Amino acid sequence: MKTMIDKLKETCDLTDDEFALLLGELSPEDTEYLFAAARDVREREYGKDVYLRGLIEFTNYCKNNCYYCGIRCGNRNAERYRLTEEQILSCCEQGHALGFRTFVLQGGEDPYYTDECMVPLVAEIRKRFPDCAITLSIGERSRESYQALFDAGADRYLLRHETANEQHYAMLHPPELSIRNRKECLFILREIGYQIGAGMMVGAPGQTTEYLIDDLRFLQELRPHMIGIGPFIPHKDTPFRDEPRGSYPLTLRLLAILRLMFPKVLLPATTALGTIHPLGRENGVLAGANVVMPNLSPTNVRGKYLLYDGKICTGDEAAECHSCMERRMEYIGYQVVNSRGDSKIE
Ligand code: SAM
Ligand code: FES
Repeated sequence: MKTMIDKLKETCDLTDDEFALLLGELSPEDTEYLFAAARDVREREYGKDVYLRGLIEFTNYCKNNCYYCGIRCGNRNAERYRLTEEQILSCCEQGHALGFRTFVLQGGEDPYYTDECMVPLVAEIRKRFPDCAITLSIGERSRESYQALFDAGADRYLLRHETANEQHYAMLHPPELSIRNRKECLFILREIGYQIGAGMMVGAPGQTTEYLIDDLRFLQELRPHMIGIGPFIPHKDTPFRDEPRGSYPLTLRLLAILRLMFPKVLLPATTALGTIHPLGRENGVLAGANVVMPNLSPTNVRGKYLLYDGKICTGDEAAECHSCMERRMEYIGYQVVNSRGDSKIE
């Protein structure tokens, strides 16, 4: 196993059979060897720096009905909210004062936020915070819309592909959503000039090792600047309420594998990882992650952006989340930095 890990570190690639072995059972010794290799590469590329992203969850309305997601339109129990432009700008203001230099505007696919609404908002954030990166994560839109948002000043776009396998995609989504369109969106975003982020849930219902390898191969084809992965966690008001959550050790192992495959990629230790284990984000960083995304949403809406059950940090103020993250990273010997944290991938 160690020879294989060395090979992955050296060549950034393995055969499908070798990936399958790494994704199977690993002894504690081999697991530690894998994490140490990932940390080595991470520290070579990024030192001990951890980039911060301030997450603003600005709407939980969504026209889609993804089977795994707590804010799907079919969930009648979700209490819906939208933030006004003023509220969003005030989150940015607060974030900027705390040291954030990237804002991530995330939401369901909410038809209320047309281009007429989003373009001036992005332009205003760009004008008020010229030293910050603006990341959008608002789902599938047209090329024209992506272009207009980019022209208004958005720099990055997060759109997880969720699963690269067509059959698996159909198990997780209603028929009107297709992996073809999702992938097409990612290629368009890249073409326009965004730094793009793709990714998948680990342990999504129906996921197999073979499907995970499809994800790795798709990521090799796409070469995104960021890869967001986190464990699937069930939500009580979705069709997947009784499905088991994704595996914590497997998520950590995947983070390490991704670091070795894509040495320069931006790799967040996600809130979902922190939700399934109290030290999830710390251990994510120790397995090769280099980004954390504390929440900047107003406290009164946090408990409503519930993609899955048990989400952490829903009661905290932005400043608390920020200093909590600083402490957590310091504790493991890393430091959060107040820069934009751009990707080193061309
Ligand atoms: N609407 C945008 C989109 O489609 O990209 C962004 C919001 S969406 C809620 C953000 C991500 O949350 C999804 O890409 C998905 O991977 C993740 N997610 C949704 N439900 C989840 C669950 N039950 N467990 C873990 N992650 C989940
Ligand atoms: Fe739209 Fe989850 S179904 S954000």
